[in-house]
Amino acid sequence: MFEHKPRPEWIATEEFLSSAVVHPDAAVQQAIRAAAEAGMPPIEVAPNAGKLLKLLVQLSGAHRILEIGTLAGYSTIWMGRGLPRSGTLVTCEYLPQHAEVAWANIDAAGLGERVEIRLGPALDTLAALEEEEREPFDFIFIDADKQNNSRYLDWAVKLGRPGAVVVLDNTIWEGAVLDPDIDPVNAPGIIDALKLLGDHPRLDATVIQTVGSKGWDGFALARILPQQQ
Ligand code: SAH
Ligand code: DHB
Ligand code: MG
Repeated sequence: MFEHKPRPEWIATEEFLSSAVVHPDAAVQQAIRAAAEAGMPPIEVAPNAGKLLKLLVQLSGAHRILEIGTLAGYSTIWMGRGLPRSGTLVTCEYLPQHAEVAWANIDAAGLGERVEIRLGPALDTLAALEEEEREPFDFIFIDADKQNNSRYLDWAVKLGRPGAVVVLDNTIWEGAVLDPDIDPVNAPGIIDALKLLGDHPRLDATVIQTVGSKGWDGFALARILPQQQ
């Protein structure tokens, strides 16, 4: 696994912000503990980023969420907290051990009825979702294998409605975006996806750099544009 390098003062500041402003609920905190107990890597979004996802879901009025990369369901629960009662969330995960821990966390958070975990390689699940001819998604969070970032963005445009929100995690990767040699495995996918975000005729995007417990990283925020006639 690529090593992220948070500075101690970034972690301390994030902890202050979390307790002063973010207020993660008990189920959200329990999901982190369960993930650690199961030996999963601590690569979920930071609490302030999870809260941002929840607020973005609420601000956009999203009813149907698609997540690519479940892990222990931490970001899933944050986004689920922003959904209305009739809302639904589909999340893609290919490791059964991750899906199992995630399911327990999601159910304990009271979201079992509204969340569907789809087990298998995300690209297969996305193709299956298209076949199922579901209603388009309003909100798409991409956070899985970085090599496939551009493919996931293309799927987001296909499966999302015009006006839908797309959030892409891990866009800076300790500066690999300017220095791909620091992670030749993941950097190309991250860089290609940033280029695609800038050039895609159906996406209007920005990118935010972040520091905190997850090191020096960032996320992109995009809106799906209507199809040009
Ligand atoms: N969104 C989560 C973190 C996801 S970590 C959170 O913030 O809480 C990335 C997850 O994607 C891991 O659980 C990994 O097993 C999964 N993953 C990686 N490649 C995948 C693929 N091709 N298809 C489905 N899941 C994948
Ligand atoms: C990794 C993956 C993530 O999605 C993340 O937010 C941080 C780290 C990783 O694979 O190392
Ligand atoms: Mg991530």
